[in-house]
This record gives sequence, structure tokens and C-alpha cells, in this order.
Amino acid sequence: MAKLADLRDDIKKVEADLGAQLEAIDDPSSLEAFRVEFLGRKGRISALLKQLGAVEPAERAQAGQWLNDLKDRSASAFSARETELRRRAMDDRLAKERADVTLPGVYRPYGHAHPLSKVQEEIESIFMRMGFDVATGPEIETEYYNFEALNIPADHPARADWDTFYITDSTLLRPHTSPVQIRVMERSTPPVRIICPGRCYRRDAQDATHSPVFHQIELLWVEEGLSLANLKFVLELFTKEYFGPGYEMRFSGDFFPFTEPSVQVHIKAPGASHWLEIMGAGMVDPAVLTAVGYDPERITGFAFGLGIERMAMLKYGIDDIRTFLTNDLRFVHQL
Ligand code: DAH
Repeated sequence: MAKLADLRDDIKKVEADLGAQLEAIDDPSSLEAFRVEFLGRKGRISALLKQLGAVEPAERAQAGQWLNDLKDRSASAFSARETELRRRAMDDRLAKERADVTLPGVYRPYGHAHPLSKVQEEIESIFMRMGFDVATGPEIETEYYNFEALNIPADHPARADWDTFYITDSTLLRPHTSPVQIRVMERSTPPVRIICPGRCYRRDAQDATHSPVFHQIELLWVEEGLSLANLKFVLELFTKEYFGPGYEMRFSGDFFPFTEPSVQVHIKAPGASHWLEIMGAGMVDPAVLTAVGYDPERITGFAFGLGIERMAMLKYGIDDIRTFLTNDLRFVHQL
């Protein structure tokens, strides 16, 4: 029979060893070896528990009590140490990986839309809200779409109004977006309500208001019963949205082969003393409607063409069209 006193000595010894070893451990990886030695299934505490059966029945309750206390104390000492070591490891890591938020940051330049793209998008969105669709056409055009179908036959003197870059005898870089009108009407039945933004080319000498490459937005609305009054309404709405309230608008006579009558549209800023031309416009010429197979007795329409650069220059007070192309970042970033 095991003696209660011996058992107590053993318990004390285990507890003393356990305390000393636990104290000495200072990295979490040694904890596991310790756990196996003392708290494991074949560890020293289990070995003591096995002796319980050999204790006198009368003393067993006392022995059991001591052993349970030992087990509980050991387990909580272990977990306290474990927590302590983990916390220390975390503190070390935090100290090592500390980010100094007061250090200067890394400058990353970010890209954004070109002022012309922004103006184009703004104009598109105004007309899209009025129910116009956006259509595009090729920049390399045929003479037919660029001139003939727009009521400018070969050898007509009006062809000289567009200083055109020819690629072959019958293909060219389009000098305006009006040919897109023809392409869209050819494949649609009225009502047609579109705007056509795009790049245009002219053999112009470059100066503050002329560039061999520039952008236009064409507008076309074709259906039964439209008149100049509808055009005026659309333009007044557009002027108010794009330039702001208080602008005045006026039409004056002009000539384009593809419109009859043709008008020049001027606007005047509130308080300003002079009128600015913003676009050419007019009622679609019956010859153009006939060219796309529409019946000009029944179908009417109006159109306009405006320069995007010009719209940007007027709105933002830019005085040289060449600044859009030179890509001086100080200019490009400011709008
Ligand atoms: N295509 C003309 C140009 O570039 C502008 C223009 C005028 C377009 C009147 C139109 C219009 O649609 O009706 O000079």
C-alpha cells in the first residue's frame, strides 16, 4: 500500500519541478515538450494519479483531493504562462513591424480623362438625357458619304469649303461628322434621333483657332412634322445645360448644301457685349432625305454640327486650340 505521506512528497516534488521549469521556458515552442512531460496522458501527473488505487481506502479521498488540486493548479499555471508568452511574442512582432505613419508617402500620379473627352462626354450626356442615341462612323470616308449624299455633287464649288485630305481618288479623311448622318439614316427608319461625336481632319494651316485634327459632334433628328422651332427648342435646352442659365441664343442665315434653310447659331453670355458663333445647323435638305430613301414630302428633320474644341474653348476661356494637342500636363490636368 502506498503511503499518503510518500504520495504527498511526490506531489510536492512534481509541483516544484513544474514551477521551476515553467519559469525557465521563454519561447512558445518549448511549451509543448513541457506539456507532454507534466500534463500529457503519460506525463508525471497521470503517473501520480495511477497511484491512487494503491492508497488506503480511508485515505483515498484526501489523496484524490490533493491530486485534483495539483492537476488544476498545473493546468492553470501552464495556460497562464502560455498566454504570457504569446502576448510577449505579439508585442515583439508589433514593435518590429511598426509602421511609421509620419513618414512621407510615395507619390503616385494617377491618370484621368483629357479635357476634350470630358467636354465630349458632357455634351453626349446632355443629349442622351433628351433621348438621342450615340452613333459613330469611319474616319476614312468615301466621297459618296462625305459629299454626294450630302447634296454636294462632284465639281460643286462647295467642296472647296472643306479642305480635305484625300487618300485615294475616292477616299478621304472625313473633314466633318455629317457623313455619319447618311450612314445611320440608310440603315434606319424614322424616327432617327442621334448624335455622332468624332475626329475630323482638314488641310488647314495650324493657328490659334485651326487645327488639322479636331472633333465635332453632329446631331440629327428626323421624323414627321419637325420644324425649325423644334431645333430652336433643343438648342435652347442644350445651351442652358452646357453653358448655364442666362445665355441668349440667336439664329442668322447661312448656307450648307445639306440643309435648307441653313442657320448659324450664336450665343451671348449674360452681360457680354458680343455674340459667339457656336455651330451650323438647319433643316435637312430634301435631296439628303431622298438620297437615303426617305420621302421628303412626309419626313422632315434638322441637324447641326458643332466643334468640340470650340465648345471647350468658349466654356473654359481657352484661347489657343493647339493646347489640346500639345499635352502639356499643366493644361491637361486643370479641367
Ligand atoms: N458639317 C458642317 C461643317 O463641318 C457643320 C454642319 C452644319 C453640320 C450644318 C450640320 C448642319 O449637320 O446642319 O462645316
